[in-house]
Amino acid sequence: MAKAEKQIKTIAILTSGGDAPGMNAAIRAVTRKAIKNGMKVMGIDKGYQGLLNREIKELKAEDVSDSIQRGGTVLKTARSEEFRSVEGQKKGADILKEFKIDAVVVIGGDGSYKGALGLSHQGIGVVGIPGTIDLDIACSDYTIGFDTAINTAMEAIDKVRDTSSSHERCSIIEVMGRQAGYIALWCGVASGADEILLPEKYDFDEQKIINHIVETRKLGKTHFLIVNAEGVGHSVSMARRIEAATGMETRATILGYMQRGGSPTCKDRFYASIMGAMAADLLAKGVINRVVCHKDGDFTDMDIDEALAMKKQISEYYVEIARDLPR
Ligand code: F6P
Repeated sequence: MAKAEKQIKTIAILTSGGDAPGMNAAIRAVTRKAIKNGMKVMGIDKGYQGLLNREIKELKAEDVSDSIQRGGTVLKTARSEEFRSVEGQKKGADILKEFKIDAVVVIGGDGSYKGALGLSHQGIGVVGIPGTIDLDIACSDYTIGFDTAINTAMEAIDKVRDTSSSHERCSIIEVMGRQAGYIALWCGVASGADEILLPEKYDFDEQKIINHIVETRKLGKTHFLIVNAEGVGHSVSMARRIEAATGMETRATILGYMQRGGSPTCKDRFYASIMGAMAADLLAKGVINRVVCHKDGDFTDMDIDEALAMKKQISEYYVEIARDLPR
């Protein structure tokens, strides 16, 4: 376990990559716990890009008031091309040293962890907190934002389902998740989808889907729901092809960014609060270059190198169940 050479007195927090509901609860927890632990806290606006632009200000306990229930991130976020390079990371580390910041808490996904690892190579202590709606961080069974996103998406799917059933249509609903199918799998099962298309499992056999619609219609099924993952995509053209081949009116709905917003659920606020506080406690003990995670039912932490080397796979058994439940 890596330890800081000297006592960590000042830390900074940033959010990076796509925002996720619950990030504010994490920022609040890091800030308040770090201050309780006797550290000074700085907030970096707009992720790594904001760091390179010196958008850094002190965060007092009262600055994070009234934020736990808000979606998005009060620190704002961005994706930074410049920070992907070693030069960018070195520049970022120099700016942190100039501000006398000993360590940074990074709230984000795998890409954000890579940036954090880069900072650690430049002598800045880091702790990562998993924040992404995609649930695709290998080291952690849970990522902040997932629960809110799937509930938002599920409610939207239920609404589309009502109108789809009234019109006896086939609906394809595309959910986010980049190359990961977790949002699609959970929402698909939870909304009783007839087909769930996952990037991890999709075999591009559209004819199979078409045959299934034709067969189940013969058995009296009047509407059809397909939950499609962003990583499979092409929902609009798929709808056109399915309509042409089955004769069933087919519509595509891409849920998009509404899945990333909204007030975080209790689960997201709780997980974010615990993980944020744990990050502040690690740094108070001088422990650096870790990521906080939720593994096998408990909150824990691990080395950031080890975390980034891990791989995550969607459960074969859950996928099998998802396929067995529709009629
Ligand atoms: O990682 C979260 C996420 O919402 C993904 O599901 C999606 O693919 C991506 O971010 C979209 O990113 P951007 O907001 O940069 O378009």
